[in-house]
Amino acid sequence: MFNAILLSQDDKRTRAELARLGEAQLPVGNVKLRIEYSTLNYKDALAMTGRGLVVKSWPMVPGIDLAGVVERSAHPVWQPGQRVVVTGWGLGETRWGGLAQKARLDAECLLPLPSAYTPRQAMAIGTAGFTAALCAMALQRHGLRPDSGEVLVTGAAGGVGSIAVALLAGLGYTVVASTGRSHEAGYLRALGAARIVDRAELSAPGKAIDHASHILDGQVRGRTVVDVDR
Ligand SMILES: NC(=O)c1ccc[n+]([C@@H]2O[C@H](COP(=O)([O-])OP(=O)(O)OC[C@H]3O[C@@H](n4cnc5c(N)ncnc54)[C@H](OP(=O)(O)O)[C@@H]3O)[C@@H](O)[C@H]2O)c1
Repeated sequence: MFNAILLSQDDKRTRAELARLGEAQLPVGNVKLRIEYSTLNYKDALAMTGRGLVVKSWPMVPGIDLAGVVERSAHPVWQPGQRVVVTGWGLGETRWGGLAQKARLDAECLLPLPSAYTPRQAMAIGTAGFTAALCAMALQRHGLRPDSGEVLVTGAAGGVGSIAVALLAGLGYTVVASTGRSHEAGYLRALGAARIVDRAELSAPGKAIDHASHILDGQVRGRTVVDVDR
């Protein structure tokens, strides 16, 4: 038996409960895991409160990521005792997710936990941090270098934005943090932001004849925008 947050639908309304489940109730999959940590993501909150159309099949265990230990495996790559992380793959949407003590998943979803991280640290970084890292890597792949100019991170005090600020500053970039919460300026500077701009400044309409030539390849007047949705 194990504990899980279980979502079900009652007359089109989402019901969330802390349930005691048997392992036989776990979905099919060739690797069984003992989950050690998960992250509470914005998407999980939407799923649990029945907002948005996050959950695609019922009943559902929410939790878009997890870190845990292989307990049993019918796949040659994974052995009992190995530490793994899972992020994405429809966890908490189409596959039972991380807000439980056990999971059974297909081997293809699993990644080995890098030895530099504890499971707790991996989930503290979470899918939001992973997304920020992918953004930073994409910018590097597109040739952005620390001497290319300032890098603008929007939504800087948010989950993805704050880790993007820390990662880019750590890589030597000059980070400009855009935030709507001026009281987070100290936090953003501590993460490595060189300066802070008010979100309203960026939202203001441009002049009728602006320098369109400066708005190329995601670069806005020598700054590069990290759009975490792209
Ligand atoms: N979290 C993930 O795992 C993940 C994965 C993939 C993609 N994403 C996407 O990444 C984006 C950020 O996600 P998140 O998890 O970091 O969310 P979050 O923690 O809620 O951060 C979003 C930030 O956006 C800023 N913001 C809020 N309202 C705004 C507005 N009206 N105009 C401009 N900025 C506004 C705020 O930044 P300030 O507080 O600095 O003002 C807020 O903190 C979302 O679009 C999400 O869909 C997230």
